[in-house]
Amino acid sequence: MMKMFDVYPLQNVSVVRAEGSWVWDSEGNKYLDMYGGHAVISIGHTHPEYVKALTEQLGRIGFYSNSVVIERQQRLAEKLGRLSGKESNRLFLVNSGAEANENAIKLASFATGRRKVVAFSASFHGRTSLAVAATANRSIVAPVNETDNVVFSEFNDGAALERLFAEQGGEIACVIIEAIQGVGGIKVADAGFLRLIRTLCDRYGAVMIADEVQCGCGRSGRYYATDWAGVQADIYTMAKGIGNGFPVGAISVGSRFEARYGMLGTTFGGSYLACAAMEAVADVMEREGLVAHAGAMGDYLTGELKKLSGLSEVRGRGLMIGIELPFEMAEFKRRLLTEEHIFVGAAGKNVIRLLPALNITREHADRFLTSFSKLLTSYCR
Ligand SMILES: Cc1ncc(COP(=O)(O)O)c(C=O)c1O
Repeated sequence: MMKMFDVYPLQNVSVVRAEGSWVWDSEGNKYLDMYGGHAVISIGHTHPEYVKALTEQLGRIGFYSNSVVIERQQRLAEKLGRLSGKESNRLFLVNSGAEANENAIKLASFATGRRKVVAFSASFHGRTSLAVAATANRSIVAPVNETDNVVFSEFNDGAALERLFAEQGGEIACVIIEAIQGVGGIKVADAGFLRLIRTLCDRYGAVMIADEVQCGCGRSGRYYATDWAGVQADIYTMAKGIGNGFPVGAISVGSRFEARYGMLGTTFGGSYLACAAMEAVADVMEREGLVAHAGAMGDYLTGELKKLSGLSEVRGRGLMIGIELPFEMAEFKRRLLTEEHIFVGAAGKNVIRLLPALNITREHADRFLTSFSKLLTSYCR
């Protein structure tokens, strides 16, 4: 019998149905989803408008190819431009976050004629060849992906970055940064650090890439987490939340880049179905004011969590929250699931990651806070 290639340490639960911020397992148990399927669920599971948009589109045409006009792509670009406040940018559509980063780095290299990429400690940019080479965790970098084209600098260390640019600035094609590191444990980039990256990129002719795959799409309470620093990146990469579960990726490309035929390409990116999913997400986000809502709910959750004793730190922005525990979180996370029926994410050994849908309500938040503090109390006795 063929089996799955065993690369995921699985939680022993089979999720078979979902609605909003609730999911059900195969035995009918109901769970609160504070994980959003890893920051993917933005407008809630099975949102009626999302289901309708995808179903209707599938009934008409699901796929053709990028050799014909797909009107939905232009409509989507307009919506994303408006929602993100980057109306003069252009959109290129792919299928995942790694692919978005791969294309952003390629574009930076094409545009500058250079080959060095600056990435940061604890970064995560995906599993494909360039994206993984720019990822700090060496255990997931295969020998074939190793390259001295990627140089790592310490996250939030401005002096180190200035030294690096002083030594190698003329060779640097781009700097890629998560304004809030996800896999790295919900570490927020200082506004001054993001502004310094902008300044150094301008001074040395390099491209600033904001990897907004996890922290973007309104999750931080601004459309891009980079916006908090008042900094414009040259390229924004997106995935996860912009598709609410449909596999999509995108790059929002600034005005300094010139497109030429054949420069980038993909078979599936920007398909009718992908556009239907992304348009539905953009429509719901705009109409329901979900960027501001994520900010307000995040402030509430973070504020309440900070009142609890027994935590090492609560950090993040909006609905991208890291709760650092003073003990290893594996058992705590398992008990949240099995005893309290709550899904959360994790980073490293000590950090619980909250990445819920952007339209969670005060009731969801309070249900989480009650269960979380109850369980925490049992550890602090
Ligand atoms: C910041 C960041 N970049 C890139 C990726 C890769 O995205 P994907 O898994 O869609 O390739 C992730 C995924 O977790 C991510 O968090």
